[in-house]
Amino acid sequence: MTIRFVTSNEGKVREAREYLSEPVEQVNYDYTEIQSDDLADIAEHGAREAFEHLGGEEPVLVDDSGLFCDAFDGFPGPYSSYVQHTLGVERVYDLVDAEANDRAYFRTVMVYYDGDESVSFEGAVPGRIVAPRGEGGFGYDPIFEHDGQTMAEMTAEEKNAISHRGRALAKFADWLAAEPAERKGPR
Ligand code: IMP
Repeated sequence: MTIRFVTSNEGKVREAREYLSEPVEQVNYDYTEIQSDDLADIAEHGAREAFEHLGGEEPVLVDDSGLFCDAFDGFPGPYSSYVQHTLGVERVYDLVDAEANDRAYFRTVMVYYDGDESVSFEGAVPGRIVAPRGEGGFGYDPIFEHDGQTMAEMTAEEKNAISHRGRALAKFADWLAAEPAERKGPR
């Protein structure tokens, strides 16, 4: 069984291959991102659409992530990509810096869909919003500090070991390993 990871982000695919023993194929397909406050709804809708679009033969994996700031009841959350490209991460830092509470977390929901059942796996990592530091990573990494380091200051290995996506992938890998083989095949 090959898992089709529907994403344009090669870094996510590399990370998935580190966790999963099954072959992972990257598929670029721009599925519809529905408007919802719930990452799981967005990812599940995308997974079902991608599965049908790709011919419904191999299971697909879709993930959706976001940065949730406590001071703003979770904003930007599911709108993190839009806010990154409109406000930019430095202005997200400025907004949080004006508040008393700098706590935030990253959250990922991964949805696996094989045409029959859809299963979701969640991962989250807590941190603080700080002035940008570090050259690595992507997106909000420079302003997200966990255990004294921003994610942009971590090596890829350090980040994967604690990241929201790493945690969701670890749960997915455990589930796959425990599933009877016949339930993993194409239907
Ligand atoms: P996506 O749903 O994974 O494509 O991500 C949604 C938004 O969250 C985009 O703005 C990403 O840049 C940001 N994002 C997702 N994962 C991370 C991460 O690990 N570090 C920093 N930003 C992230």
